[in-house]
Amino acid sequence: MNSAKYRVFVCTKQRDANDPEGCCHNCGALEIYEAFQEEISQRQLEHQVEIRRSGCLDNCEAGAVALIYQPKLHEPSWLPTKIQKKIASNKHYYGHLKRADIAELVESHLVNGQPLKRCKI
Ligand code: FES
Repeated sequence: MNSAKYRVFVCTKQRDANDPEGCCHNCGALEIYEAFQEEISQRQLEHQVEIRRSGCLDNCEAGAVALIYQPKLHEPSWLPTKIQKKIASNKHYYGHLKRADIAELVESHLVNGQPLKRCKI
């Protein structure tokens, strides 16, 4: 897990259908996760990109949500977590994701290194 250029976390948190917080699972998160897997495989990016399902990424109102970041650009671990979060400019959150967004997102961010602004939250 240490050699990847990018890590992709797709929130697949599931809550009860009546839960007012909602959840990414009910917004098609599994389809989004599968779409990332397909795009990464088709472009043979497996050696550069790790993809994982994750729990809640604290943006539930924007489901389905994914986080992409570059682990090698992480800020020094000796900084307090609150400060690390504030300056974590290499973390990009995407929301309201649909199946149709993923090919463009992979091409833009994971191939060309340009975060896809229209899907960022
Ligand atoms: S349930 Fe996906 S961000 Fe909270």
